[in-house]
Amino acid sequence: MDTQDIRNARGTDGFDAGATHAHDSNGAVDPARRATQAGSRASVPVQEPILEPHVESARYARCVAASKRIRWDIDRDVIRHREFDFTKKFLPDGLSFVDRMPFLSGDERRLLSQVQGRSYANIFGLVERYIGAKILEVSRDHWLGDQNALEALVRFTDEELKHQELFRRVEKMIGSGMAAGYSFMPQPNDVASAVLSKSTWSVLALTCLIELFTQVHYRASIEPDDELSPLFKDVFLFHWKEESQHAIMDEIEWRAEDARVDARERDQGVTDLIALVGAVDGIVQAQAASDARYFIASAGPTYSAVEQALIEQTFLRAYRWQYIVSGAQEPRFAEVLKALTTPAQMERIGAALTPIVSATA
Ligand SMILES: [Fe+2]
Ligand SMILES: [Fe+2]
Repeated sequence: MDTQDIRNARGTDGFDAGATHAHDSNGAVDPARRATQAGSRASVPVQEPILEPHVESARYARCVAASKRIRWDIDRDVIRHREFDFTKKFLPDGLSFVDRMPFLSGDERRLLSQVQGRSYANIFGLVERYIGAKILEVSRDHWLGDQNALEALVRFTDEELKHQELFRRVEKMIGSGMAAGYSFMPQPNDVASAVLSKSTWSVLALTCLIELFTQVHYRASIEPDDELSPLFKDVFLFHWKEESQHAIMDEIEWRAEDARVDARERDQGVTDLIALVGAVDGIVQAQAASDARYFIASAGPTYSAVEQALIEQTFLRAYRWQYIVSGAQEPRFAEVLKALTTPAQMERIGAALTPIVSATA
């Protein structure tokens, strides 16, 4: 189905329910039968489904197959009666930027990775609230259409619900092994309400960015590090396995939405994306400040004013890298964004990102 077909299929009221025999099990329809249906639409006042196979049906089918193959259970496969090993690191050095603070001892370096690792898990639990809701919303376009797409997006949503439960469990387990005083401030429903008030184009773009950096972080930093707590590593191994399909679907849906919108709506999408990145940066700034304060208070030594300032600055740099810059610079994200926007829009996005990118240097 091309994008014109999608546009044509929407908003048409009336569908000949008796014509459903023209479909195969995947929602495909015989073109000749389709013409017959078109002539008898007015009789039944229900919304017409999207009748043709989705252009990306085969890719969605592969996502479904992969999702079934790697499906995991929190207790049976991930936790397996284990606890987090506090004698080891949680977040790897490549993500925590710990090497930028050469005055930290071995114990302090380890604590820093554990504080950042705790927030890293909490951030995923946070954004997955809005991601699950958005994917459930976009699945509506496939309810009566391509059944591979529908199944893939339903599984996607189900996986995000499971991930949120996993990250709530992780927070509880890590929290029980760390000193009091840590706080994770943003509330999932508040953030989700704010994000979901923006245009679908921008929300799918942000989601694509997040789910691509999830994979990059795992492959480039978490997987190769042999000094991490085995349970922490496994949490992100299993998460990564399911996220690999999500990033593919984000891109398909983002491109489909892009094909649906007109130039004015797309420009609003760019404006909204810039606002969303700004909102993420606001969350990141607040959490980095909170985590740096917690680390300084619980690490043990009394740091000089210069060291304290460097710790605060490095937490912020690391978090901006983790949650914004590493995704924005991911080649696949940059490629799709460039393909969907004008040079002027890319310039607007670049201008908004530049202060954040240079602040991580
Ligand atoms: Fe997830
Ligand atoms: Fe995901």
